[in-house]
Amino acid sequence: MDENAENHLGAIQIDTFRRALLDWYGEHQRDLPWRRTRDPYAVWVSEIMLQQTRVDQALPYYERFMDRFPTVEHLGKAPLEDVLKAWEGMGYYARARNLHRAARRVVVEYGGRIPEDPARISDLAGIGPYTAAAISSIAFGRDCPVVDGNVVRVLSRLFHLTGNPATSAARKKIDGLAGRLLARGRAGDFNQAMMELGATICTPRQPRCGACPVNPFCEARKTLPDPSVLPRKRPRAQRPHLHVAAAIVQRDDEVLIVRRPTDGLLGGLWEFPGGTVVKQVERETFLSEEMKNTLGIDVRVDHAVATLRHAFTHFEMTLQGYSCSYVEGVACHRDGNVCRWVPFEDLGRFAFPRAYRRLIEAAARLREGRQPDGFA
Ligand code: ADE
Repeated sequence: MDENAENHLGAIQIDTFRRALLDWYGEHQRDLPWRRTRDPYAVWVSEIMLQQTRVDQALPYYERFMDRFPTVEHLGKAPLEDVLKAWEGMGYYARARNLHRAARRVVVEYGGRIPEDPARISDLAGIGPYTAAAISSIAFGRDCPVVDGNVVRVLSRLFHLTGNPATSAARKKIDGLAGRLLARGRAGDFNQAMMELGATICTPRQPRCGACPVNPFCEARKTLPDPSVLPRKRPRAQRPHLHVAAAIVQRDDEVLIVRRPTDGLLGGLWEFPGGTVVKQVERETFLSEEMKNTLGIDVRVDHAVATLRHAFTHFEMTLQGYSCSYVEGVACHRDGNVCRWVPFEDLGRFAFPRAYRRLIEAAARLREGRQPDGFA
């Protein structure tokens, strides 16, 4: 820990800090369903959802997920397909696959009881140090500090830390401070209070310092005209842009869908066949060749359905969907990916990535508006 942070820690009354934060949390915390329980399964599901999804976005998913899979047994015994369907729209589907895998292990190895030992918890799929500490402190009352993005921001400002938190030296300092500040015996509340402060007051832009319960302790507020310059942001790398063409192939009233391999990006989700296109290549030619080479079928490309943009963490995608008519051949994927002909109306039963779901909506609109009897 650097000397300044050490001095600041020495100078503040840590007990006063903890009390101010916990009192504020007691009074102002949002009423969230996972805070009404200490069920480690509920805490686990909520923490996994909240890793990359904001509270207001995750809430309806959480409610539906817990209705559908109320216990770790329900989840562990469900088919992955159902779990992905419940997760559809939230993105970062590896979270759902890992949660499912870990739930199966809890059922088989631990008789359906989530282990209390942090080392055993972190050995489960998808549970890193952050989630293990969150479950241990919130559900089991263990004195483990939790450091997520919100806590990094709060501590960087509180202690005026100018290092880049993506570096291991800066991160070590932050973890050390989190451990020193932790209110032992009330770790679950303390950790959630720190996260809540970051989510609602000490926000990335325009923090509401006037409403902050610990503003007398904040070094950034004392010394900087604008505390929001901390933590130091990493320069954002330019994201590559992919152009993807997809074929909505119609045969009678059925369409062809293909399941992505379970491992990798969007693993286990369904999509329309197609692929990445080099900019100059004509989409129509690309798609009919792709259908022939990858699936062994001949199709006629009829017309464009929609062009959509979607941003992933590491790249951006423009997805162009085309309505196609099946001509001949038996659909069989070159790499063994599962393919199915399904009625258009049944597409809602399958888990699709968000961009493809939007494409289905566009196709449905065209179908209703333009061609009442046939497919758009
Ligand atoms: N973000 C992730 N987990 C959280 C929690 N338990 N409370 C507030 N924000 C969070």
